Amino acid sequence: MRPPDRSLTRLLAGWLPRQRWFGGKDSPIDELTIDTSTELVPGDPGLHHLVLDVRQNTTTDHYQLLLGIRRHLPERLRPHQIGQFAGDTPGYLYDAAHDPELARPLLTHMARETTVGPLRFRHTPGADIRTDLDGTPVTAEQSNTSLVFGGTYICKLFRRLSPGVNPDLEVNLALSREGCTHVPAVHGWIEMEPPDGAGGEPITLALLSEFLRTGTDGWRLALTSVRDWFAQPEPLHAPPGSPAAPPGPAGALTVGDAAAAGGDFAAEAERLGAATAQVHRDLAAAFGVTRAAADDLRAMARGMAAQLDRVGAAVPELRPHAPAIRAVFDRLAASDDPLPVQRVHGDYHLGQVMRTESGWVLLDFEGEPARTPAERRAPAHPLRDVAGMLRSFEYAARFLLAGGDEMPPESADVLERRAQVWAERNRAAFCAGYAAAGGPDPAAHTALVRAFELDKAVYEVRYEARNRPSWLPVPLRSLERLAGGQRSIE
Ligand SMILES: Nc1ncnc2c1ncn2[C@@H]1O[C@H](COP(=O)(O)OP(=O)(O)O)[C@@H](O)[C@H]1O
Ligand SMILES: [Mg+2]
Repeated sequence: MRPPDRSLTRLLAGWLPRQRWFGGKDSPIDELTIDTSTELVPGDPGLHHLVLDVRQNTTTDHYQLLLGIRRHLPERLRPHQIGQFAGDTPGYLYDAAHDPELARPLLTHMARETTVGPLRFRHTPGADIRTDLDGTPVTAEQSNTSLVFGGTYICKLFRRLSPGVNPDLEVNLALSREGCTHVPAVHGWIEMEPPDGAGGEPITLALLSEFLRTGTDGWRLALTSVRDWFAQPEPLHAPPGSPAAPPGPAGALTVGDAAAAGGDFAAEAERLGAATAQVHRDLAAAFGVTRAAADDLRAMARGMAAQLDRVGAAVPELRPHAPAIRAVFDRLAASDDPLPVQRVHGDYHLGQVMRTESGWVLLDFEGEPARTPAERRAPAHPLRDVAGMLRSFEYAARFLLAGGDEMPPESADVLERRAQVWAERNRAAFCAGYAAAGGPDPAAHTALVRAFELDKAVYEVRYEARNRPSWLPVPLRSLERLAGGQRSIE
C-alpha cells in the first residue's frame, strides 16, 4: 500500500515547510525528490524510511522521514497527517515519528543489528536493548525529533542529514570510551551507507541514548532561580559574612542578597563549570590537542570582524558599539601566543545541559546548526564554550524582562539591576568551578573570553533582529557592557 511517487513528492513539498525542524523556510522548494525509500514494516500500518533531496535555490538539503501509511488514521495521528491517497487501496500518509506502534521496530532492529537496504541498525558492544517499549516524541523538539522509549531510552532522529558521522554520535561514543560520566550512555544508532558506495563514512540517521529520568533542563532550572530572585521583597540587606557584594544603588538588592535568596543557582553554576572542564579534558584526551598558529588566530579574529561588518550593515542598533568591538578583535589578532585548540561542544548553553541526581550532563554535541559539518568538527579553544555558557546566563537573567512575562511591580531599573546581579553571580560561579576543575582559567584569559562573548553577542543581534525584535535589547545591553571595557567576567 503506497501512493505513486509523483503524488507523494507533491504532498511532501506542501507538508515539509510547515514542519518546525525544516531549515529552508526562507525560500520556496524548487524540487523535491525521493532519494531512498526503504520499507521497514510492511502492511497496515506500514512504515517506510525516506531520504528526501530538497532543492532550494542552488543548495540541496537532505531530510529523513519515517513515513507511516494506514488505511484508517486514528484521531491521535490526525495532526501528523501528510496527505491522503486514492486508488484501489486508498489510505493516509503521516509522520510516523508520532506513532508509538511504529517506533518500536526501530529498537528491534537495533537490538538485532539488522541491515535493511541501505540502512544499518547498530548497538554499542554489550548493549542489551529492550524491545518492549513504545516511543513517544518529546514535545521540546527543536531541529530534530527525539522519541522517548518508556523512560529508558531517548532516540534522536536527525531531521536534516549531513554527510558522514554525526558529531553527536561521534563525540558521545568517544566520551563514553574515556569513561566520561557527564554524557548520557550511548546504546545504539542507525546509519546509512554513503550514497556512492565504498569509501565515504556512513551517514548517521539516529542516536539511541540513555534517557535521563532524573534530569531537569538547565535553562528551566536557571529561570526558576531568576523568577525567585525577581520576587524577593525590596530592599533586603546582605547577611553579615556573605560574599563581598558590588556596591549597588542605595537599598537595591546585591550579590550578597542573591546568595541569601531562595532558589540561588550559584552552587549549581559552579558544579556545571566543573563538569564542563571535565568534559573538555576528556575531549582533549579522546581527540587530541593541537596548537593554532598566530595566522589561525588572525584568521579567526578576521572572521569575527567580518561578521561584525555584516550584522552592522543590517542592524543599525549595532553600529554605535562597532568600533569598540572591533578594537577587541584587533587586539586578539595582534597576539602571537599560539592557542591550544581541541574538539569542544560548539553550541553550548543552558538548554544543552541537564542536572541529574548524579550531577550535570552535557547534551547535543552537534555544534551550531548554521555552521558547515567541517566547521562543526573543527578544533577550537575550550573557552569558546565557556563564553557560550556565559552568554546563556545573560539570557536567562533577562529572559523574563524581554519576554513580557508578568513582572513584579518593581521599576524597570530595579529589575534590570537584579538581572545584572543574577548574571554576574552565576557567571562568576561557573568560571570559578571551571578553573578549579582544571580548565583554563577564564579570569586569566579575559581578552579571549571577551572576544568570544562579543562574537556570540553580535550573532545574537542578527538573530534577534530577524526573529524576535523585542529581544534585541538582551545582546545590545551585554555589548554595551562588554565593549565598554567593563569586566567581562568576575
Ligand atoms: N538523554 C536525555 N535524557 C532526557 N532528556 C533528554 C536527553 N537528551 C535530550 N533530552 C531532552 O531533549 C531536548 C533536546 O535534546 P537535544 O539533544 O539538545 O536535541 P536538539 O538537537 O533538538 O536540540 C533536551 O533539551 C532535553 O530536554
Ligand atoms: Mg539542543
